Amino acid sequence: MICTVSCRVVALSRDTVCMATVIRQGLEVLFTRQQIADRVAEMGAQITHDLNGEKLVMVGVLKGAAPFLADLARAVQVDATFDFVATSSYGKGQRSSGAVKLIKDLDEPIEGKNVLVVEDILDTGLTLSYLRKLFLQQHPKTLRIAALLDKPSRRLEKIEADYVGFSIPNLFVIGYGMDYAERYRNLPDICLMTPDHPE
Ligand code: IMP
Repeated sequence: MICTVSCRVVALSRDTVCMATVIRQGLEVLFTRQQIADRVAEMGAQITHDLNGEKLVMVGVLKGAAPFLADLARAVQVDATFDFVATSSYGKGQRSSGAVKLIKDLDEPIEGKNVLVVEDILDTGLTLSYLRKLFLQQHPKTLRIAALLDKPSRRLEKIEADYVGFSIPNLFVIGYGMDYAERYRNLPDICLMTPDHPE
């Protein structure tokens, strides 16, 4: 059987490229589920090491970070609890309105605790700057950030994640929790929408 797979090279940075593979019309895979799993395992090992046996509160930013939090939590070898917050999002398209609003607050106080904010993408930095400021008012013992993806070229606020899965250029991605107008969150790979996307 002859099988043709359509691929193209995507530059992630000056020195790193990746092969994006078309999986169906309008969708190409940027990071496969295996690449994600391998990187999440590495991040989990690093976080475990940094915690030195202490307990952790993992705070997921809904909705996009849910799959990442679920996988990262199982890669972290410490006693961890979960909490979730929700902020105003991109709405129905690819652009942020700029203003961040808290839609759902923490369920439990975080004073004196080791807190890890788990986010799908660090983009302009508006969301995580807002959350960091808010959480610091509660005086956690430590406050760290894990972002699966980082788009440094898009930053408007001075903020970095302590743990980054993959650094990418200014690309709009979907899958593994990330959406376009609430769709595609359940794709198991991180994908790009191509111009021939049927919509
Ligand atoms: P920031 O406040 O600009 O850093 O944006 C953070 C949020 O924007 C992320 O948690 C995502 O929900 C959303 N976002 C940013 N870039 C993308 C993307 O490429 N695809 C889907 N959502 C994105």
